[in-house]
Amino acid sequence: MDLHEIIAKRFSVRNYIDKKVEKEKIDYILDCARLAPSACNRQPWTIYVASSPDVLANLKLAYAREWMDKVSTIIVVSAHHDQSWHRERFDNKDHSDVDLAILADHIILAATQCGLGSCWVCAFEPDLCRKALNIDDAQEEPVVMIPIGYADSSVAVPEKKRKNISDIVVLK
Ligand SMILES: Cc1cc2nc3c(=O)[nH]c(=O)nc-3n(C[C@H](O)[C@H](O)[C@H](O)COP(=O)(O)O)c2cc1C
Repeated sequence: MDLHEIIAKRFSVRNYIDKKVEKEKIDYILDCARLAPSACNRQPWTIYVASSPDVLANLKLAYAREWMDKVSTIIVVSAHHDQSWHRERFDNKDHSDVDLAILADHIILAATQCGLGSCWVCAFEPDLCRKALNIDDAQEEPVVMIPIGYADSSVAVPEKKRKNISDIVVLK
């Protein structure tokens, strides 16, 4: 698949089958994550790969949805605000969220390329996520939970509803 095919194929998978993700695929996804760019190359992140039953159960408490039941791998990307680049000369804007979004997208697109489904999840309860991963450093913030697994192919792929290029691009 070329890049456009991978991007077009990805969708938020909320129906999974009971099949574990192979270690080689996780390793490939993690290497794609490792290569992500970040502001000033600070790489202000930790990538948690949760697949043990206890941690999975606790993470699922942070985002309790029926469709998460069959998920057997959850990747959580976590930002370190004391490592990220801040735009100090001007407004001190913290670029963690930008860095972590790129990281998460590398993970999600690599998963798609491996034939895996995934979903961005940010509507989780932060305190329960921290608890599940034993994060007690106030400078560290779990930003995105990414369930990864095999999509149930009997469920129809939703239509991609997107704005037209003419609605979002301004040529100057
Ligand atoms: C930053 C971000 C946070 C999101 N959080 C959630 C979430 O908590 N739960 C969920 O089911 N989907 C979540 N989504 C998925 C979006 O709803 C989805 O990407 C969007 O509706 C477009 O659909 P598609 O991913 O199938 O193309 C999130 C997406 C993004 C980019």
